Amino acid sequence: MKAKRRVVPGAPKPQRTPTIRRVRPAIRPVGSKPVVPSSPGAPPSSAASASSSSSPAPSSPAPSSPVVDAIGGRPVSLEVDLGRGLVLANPVIAASGPFGYGVEVAELVDLARLGGLVTRGTTLKPRAGNAGPRTAEVAAGLLVGVGLQNPGIDAVLERYAPAWARWRVPVIVNLCGESSGDLVDIVRRLEGVPGVAGVELNLSCTNARGGGVAFGLDAEASRSLVSAVRRATDLPLIAKVTAAAADVRAVARACEEAGADAISAINTLPGLALAADRTGPALGSVYGGICGPALKPVALRVVFEVAQAVDVPVIGIGGVATIDDVLDLLAVGAAAVGVGVAAFADPMLPVRLADELADACRARGVGDVADLVGTAQPKRLSPPSTRGAEYAR
Ligand SMILES: Cc1cc2nc3c(=O)[nH]c(=O)nc-3n(C[C@H](O)[C@H](O)[C@H](O)COP(=O)(O)O)c2cc1C
Repeated sequence: MKAKRRVVPGAPKPQRTPTIRRVRPAIRPVGSKPVVPSSPGAPPSSAASASSSSSPAPSSPAPSSPVVDAIGGRPVSLEVDLGRGLVLANPVIAASGPFGYGVEVAELVDLARLGGLVTRGTTLKPRAGNAGPRTAEVAAGLLVGVGLQNPGIDAVLERYAPAWARWRVPVIVNLCGESSGDLVDIVRRLEGVPGVAGVELNLSCTNARGGGVAFGLDAEASRSLVSAVRRATDLPLIAKVTAAAADVRAVARACEEAGADAISAINTLPGLALAADRTGPALGSVYGGICGPALKPVALRVVFEVAQAVDVPVIGIGGVATIDDVLDLLAVGAAAVGVGVAAFADPMLPVRLADELADACRARGVGDVADLVGTAQPKRLSPPSTRGAEYAR
C-alpha cells in the first residue's frame, strides 16, 4: 500500500528508488479517510465535507466515500491513491480531450461521480488549432487532428478554475508545451490555484529544442522535461507517455526517476487517413491521432510493460468503451483507467463504468478494486516488446 502524502509546497523532493518490480497499486484499504485536495497547499479535506459541485444534484452520492454500497450490495473500496495527496474516489477518469474543461458537460454529466477529470490540452499562449477537417472516421476508431486549440493557460484559469474549485471531482490540467521553459511557466501559474488537483504532462508534444521530435519518444528528453516541471511545482504530476516510443518502459522509468507521481498511458498514435477521392490526406493537419478500439491492444501492451518498469501508479487509457475494457486495463496493471473518445458518443459512459466497476467487484467477491489490479501480470518480468512480437524468445 502506498503511503498517503500531502501536498506541501517547498517540501523536499521525495526520494525514489527506481527498480523493476511487480505491480504494486496505490490503493488504500477499506475504511480509510479519503483526501481530496481542493487546492495545493490547502488543508486536505474529507470529500464528504467538501463544498458541493455546481454540476451534481444535491442528492448526489458523496463521491469520495471509500465505500461504495450501491444497490444494497457488499461494500467495495474503489479508491485510488495517485500520490502526493491526489486520491480518487474511484479509478474511472475522463481522459484529456472529450470533456473539454468540464464545464462543457457539467449540465449533462454528474462529474462528482467520476474518479477524476483531465482537461483538454492547455498551452502557455492561445492556440487556434489545425485547419479542418479535424476528424476522420477510420475502421475501429477515429483519427483526430485538433491541434491543441485552447485559449492559453491564463484564460483557462480565469474562465474555468472557479468552477473546478466548487466541484468535488479532482480536476487535473493537461499541459502541452514546446519547451521546458513553457511548461515551467504554466505550472507556476497553476501553483496554489483552488480547483487544480494536479497536472498531466502530455509528452507527445513537440520538443522545439530536440529537433521537433516529441519529448515522449526519447527517455532523456522526457526526464529533463519532467525534472524541470517537478522542480517548479508541488502539484501531483502525471506524465502521459506515448506508445510511439521505441522503448516506452525506458521513458516511463525516466519520468518516475525525474519525479512523476504517476504515469498515464497512452496518448493517441499518429496515423493517416485519405480523402474520399484519394487526392490527399483527409485531415487538414495531414496526420492525426488514432483513438478508440483500435488503440486498446496497444494500450494493454504498454500498460503491461510500464507497470513492470515503475513503482508509481499507472493510468491506463486507450479504447475503453465497456466494463471489460476497464477490467482488462486493471488486469495488466493500471491502477486507474481513462475514458477518451467513447465519451464523445456517450458522455454518461465514464460514470456508468464507475458504477459497473463496483458491481464487477461485488460479482467477483472483491472488497477492494486493488485486488483486480495486475492479475494478468507475469510472475517474472516478461520480455520487452522492443524485441518484437513474433521473434521475442
Ligand atoms: C478529441 C480528442 C482530443 C484530445 N486531446 C488531448 C490533449 O489535449 N492532450 C492529451 O494528452 N491527450 C488528448 N487526447 C487523447 C486522449 O486523452 C486519449 O489518450 C486517447 O484518445 C486514447 O484514448 P481513447 O482511445 O479512449 O480515446 C485527445 C483525444 C481526443 C479524442
